[in-house]
This record gives sequence, structure tokens and C-alpha cells, in this order.
Amino acid sequence: MTLILDGKLVSKQIREEVAEDVQLLIKQGVTPKLTVVLVGDDAASQIYVKSKERACAKAGIISETIKYPSDVLKQNVIDKIKELNNDNSVHGILVQLPLPEGFNESEIIELIAPEKDVDGFHPINSGRLTSGINDDYFVPATPAGIIEILKRYKIEIPGKHVVIVGRSSIVGKPAGMLFLRHGNEGDATVTFCHSKTKNLPDITKTADILVAATGKPKLITADMVKPGVVVIDVGINRIPSKYSEKGYKIVGDVDFDEVSKLASAITPVPGGIGPMTIAMLLKNTLRAVTVFGKKE
Ligand code: GUN
Repeated sequence: MTLILDGKLVSKQIREEVAEDVQLLIKQGVTPKLTVVLVGDDAASQIYVKSKERACAKAGIISETIKYPSDVLKQNVIDKIKELNNDNSVHGILVQLPLPEGFNESEIIELIAPEKDVDGFHPINSGRLTSGINDDYFVPATPAGIIEILKRYKIEIPGKHVVIVGRSSIVGKPAGMLFLRHGNEGDATVTFCHSKTKNLPDITKTADILVAATGKPKLITADMVKPGVVVIDVGINRIPSKYSEKGYKIVGDVDFDEVSKLASAITPVPGGIGPMTIAMLLKNTLRAVTVFGKKE
């Protein structure tokens, strides 16, 4: 029997835990606040930001979204981030990616105060995660969600061969760093694969835990996995579908129907890592208050 790793269910538990902690903070006089900066009209980003707003509201976290048109002057965005850095009522700042053409994403991300960078994308946060010499950092929400769902389903990580397909700064790379950390939630042997990897199936077949984060619909097929593998599908891809009213359906990077026949456990899409990401963002926002400051 294949275990379906239900991100919807687990993320609900996490959101409830966060909501309880938020109430404790509110009693102490601090209401956590997340400010999202959204530039342009990328359709998927609009949907993600709406979900983040809804999740914050349910957890008792104040959320504010500052929207700019795609032709906004870069300086306006820069000034806003500096203002948010200095605003003691704002605990977390998130600039939704991708930014429109003409923006240098790393330039913008590096402006965010690291102690408010709830995405964990600032080089200080990613550097501390990678170096392991300091625990004062934020872990990006999607990779954090991957580890958390495995933990909640009591799937052992230490000693396992984790193969990560995809090397993005948002998912693939930080996920690899988490699996590599010392301790019960890490201690894995990690292999990174990407679009230039030769003999991809030969490598993915050796995975005990396979993480697919490529943005390529159904890239991972049944002939690429070994029986008993644990599959984490991070993909959220729209493909045309004449059976859906919207004209499209959402699929992952894994051919779920076929791969799930071989896997011992697998995350579905939707309802797997997607909801976990939002729950972990809420946890990071809480951490921004409890670890990095209670000033208001
Ligand atoms: N775009 C896609 N995923 C993310 C994310 O986790 N954070 C931000 N800021 N933008 C994204």
C-alpha cells in the first residue's frame, strides 16, 4: 500500500499550532505581521499571494500586500523595502517572485533585513544554512515543508540517499542543504541532478527519497524510480485539460498515477507540498517575532 503524504491535512495541523502561538503573542501585546510586496500581474503569483493572505488571516497574523504595476520604478520598490525594514510593526517581509523583467531579483532580496526575510532567500540566511556555523537563519518555506511532512509521517531521513532533481535557490539547493544537516532531520547522502545531468534515470533509480522540483510536468516516470521509494513532488504545473471548466489542470513533476504504484510514499499534486509551503511561511513569520524581536 502506498502512503499518500497528505500535505493538506498536515498543514492544517501546523496552521492550528501557529494560530495557538499567535494568540499567546497577542496576549503579550505583539501581533505578528507579514508584509508581501507584489510587483506586476503574474497570474500564479496573484493566486499564491491570495492564499498567503488567507492563511495569515486564519492564523491571526496581520498581513498586508503592497502591489505595484510591472512598470513601477525600481527605486519605489527599493524605498518601500527600506521603509519596511525600519517599521517595527512589520515582522516579516516577502517579495513575491518572479519579479518582472528589468528587475534584478538578487538586488531586491539583498535589501530585505535578514531578520525579516521570512522567505530565507537573503544570502545571510542561505549562507548560514549552508555553512551550519550559526542557527540564526530562516529556512525557505518549501524545503522546510518537505522535511516537516517527512517528519510528521515518521519517515526516517538519516543515512538515506536523497536525490534532488532541480537546483533552484528557492527549492532544490536549500532542500539539499537541509537533508545534509547534522541530526535526525538530516544526515542524508544527497545527490543533486539538473537539466544537464547525464543518465538522469540511472541516478533517480538509486534514490531512497526522490525530490522533484523542476517545473517540468510528469518528468519523473515509473521507469525512473526503484520500488519502495519515497517521492516528494514539488511541481505545480498547469497543463491543458478539456475535462476541466478552467481549461487546464494542475499536475506535478511526477507521473503520479504510474509512480505511485511503485512508491512506498508519495505527495500528491495538488494537496502535497503546496499547502506545506504556506504553513511553513506562517511558522517563519512567527519565528520572526519570537526569535528576532518583539518590538512593535
Ligand atoms: N515564488 C514561488 N515560490 C515562492 C516563494 O516561496 N517565495 C516567494 N517570495 N516567491 C515565490
